Amino acid sequence: MGVLLSKRAYNFNAGPAALPLQVLERAQAEFVDFRNTGMSIMEMSHRGAVYESVHNEAQERILRLLGNPEGYKVLFLQGGASTQFAMIPMNFLGEGKTGSYVMTGSWADKALKEAKLVGETHVAASSKESSYMSFPNLSNLELPESSAYLHVTSNETIEGVQFQSYPDTGNVPLIADMSSDIFCRPLDITKFGMVYAGAQKNLGPSGVTVVIAREELLADSPGHIPTMLRYSTFLSNNSLYNTPPSFSVYMVNEVVKWIEEEGGLSGIEVKNRDKAGLLYQTIDNSGGFYKGCAETESRSLMNVTFRLATEELEKLFAKESEQAGFIGLKGHRSVGGLRASIYNAVPYESCSALADFMGDFQKRHG
Ligand SMILES: Cc1ncc(COP(=O)(O)O)c(C=O)c1O
Repeated sequence: MGVLLSKRAYNFNAGPAALPLQVLERAQAEFVDFRNTGMSIMEMSHRGAVYESVHNEAQERILRLLGNPEGYKVLFLQGGASTQFAMIPMNFLGEGKTGSYVMTGSWADKALKEAKLVGETHVAASSKESSYMSFPNLSNLELPESSAYLHVTSNETIEGVQFQSYPDTGNVPLIADMSSDIFCRPLDITKFGMVYAGAQKNLGPSGVTVVIAREELLADSPGHIPTMLRYSTFLSNNSLYNTPPSFSVYMVNEVVKWIEEEGGLSGIEVKNRDKAGLLYQTIDNSGGFYKGCAETESRSLMNVTFRLATEELEKLFAKESEQAGFIGLKGHRSVGGLRASIYNAVPYESCSALADFMGDFQKRHG
């Protein structure tokens, strides 16, 4: 165990990202022979009782983390969160309906672009004028009567901004892309018609997209869209209409089990606040050497974005940090700067090592 730990990188990748060591070790232990079947979980039929029990267990655990809300179902889909950008309007924008969007950054932009290909859209609020470094004020949100839903991006992975609270949308279902912050803190799912997330940040490996939604929203997909793009296909077949990404679902079950062991969502939140607090404090106490990108009250618990005085210095930081064993600190290519992605599975020790490195870098180059 000690040897393994010392081999682990300080992994700040934006996604796919760090997974809990305990989960990787458990998966390793049962990789070749799953529960005495003489087979890997990857080698089993998805129609068999063994795989199905894992599949159902993952759904049950996810709902249990959310307090077993009445009327909600969990689906396992493929195609990443990017496919949800299209499936949502395809399923919900019938004749005369409008998809309303809150524009908060690069991922909200992509979701809206895709919806425009499918039907009528409306921008309900936007923080584009602040270059997406803050969240728009949603207190006087006015939605068209024809709104089929309001779509928000709970955490903008690239800019490093996160919703601190969600708008009340009355009868209009609130749909959230939670790809980069699902289960990072307690979640009152009853405020939402649907939340979805590509698994590869907070839930497991890539390959599966988790949808948690009110059953009645999922049940009523239009018959003219392709079968595999209807939520109702997945609902009525327990996400087993075709072959699911079985290994990824198995890993999601293990990751959610780990979250339970960590004290559930409130236990995870305490740890996330400690990690993010340490890094933001390092930035804020640097006398302006490091500058946080996001406005303070919109800062993300998951993606800490910051800049240095010049691009040359940022390049040097990226290079020196990598040489020192820190992985993935370069900002997204579309915005530059630096970014530490500190998802649930990134240990506090990685963050404190990074804070030390930042202090040392400042001493040498400040
Ligand atoms: C907030 C957000 N939404 C959507 C996506 C796209 O996810 P996928 O690659 O699973 O399609 C990402 C990926 O980084 C993301 O961070």
